[in-house]
Amino acid sequence: MAGRFITFEGIDGAGKSTHIDAVAARLRSAGAKVLCTREPGGTVLAERLRELILHAPMDPLTEALIVFAARRDHVLQVIEPALARGETVLCDRFTDATFAYQGGGRGFDTAVLAELERWVHGHLQPDLTIWFDLDTEVAAARRAAARAPDRFEKQDLDFFDRVRAGYQARMDAAPQRFVRIDAAQPREAVSKQIVVALEARRW
Ligand code: TYD
Repeated sequence: MAGRFITFEGIDGAGKSTHIDAVAARLRSAGAKVLCTREPGGTVLAERLRELILHAPMDPLTEALIVFAARRDHVLQVIEPALARGETVLCDRFTDATFAYQGGGRGFDTAVLAELERWVHGHLQPDLTIWFDLDTEVAAARRAAARAPDRFEKQDLDFFDRVRAGYQARMDAAPQRFVRIDAAQPREAVSKQIVVALEARRW
């Protein structure tokens, strides 16, 4: 039995991470075996590439290639085997982030990204993508209060407006896969909206 693949997306500061644990707990209590992972990362190799992606200056093509190299290892070593075992995989970011950050944010050619996507995980797409959508100024204020910025978090509001538009374009291209959550709501309301999305699928 093939498992389910659920991804969590949004601009930095949208607050997705806190909700992933809650989704995992809910699905586990319903009897699912749940694996939580993240991108870039999720394997020894991909976590090493993550350090480079977040902190080493590089051009947009290099960035896109490293992101997909990390993803290839993660898909082969972790995601596909878990799905084949019938597990539910919760992934903090996946390829929509590449279209949003490298495509929207950096302005890199999305036709090339689509080709890399086909090479790296041709047939594999998330069963559900929960997009935490938030105004870029609100997100920036949340980030400033929370942590020291990495290469992406240092970008200006225009960059994050383009990232957000990148997510919107991905949702427009596959609306049945996405649930958009208004991440400006209080945490409880966000949780409730996620539960509604899971219940609608009888998960
Ligand atoms: P993030 O989930 O924000 O990590 P943390 O919660 O520890 O800050 O992800 C790290 C960054 O990587 C984020 O700014 C977006 C960026 N990123 C890309 O640019 N492209 C990608 O394909 C992925 C998966 C992430």
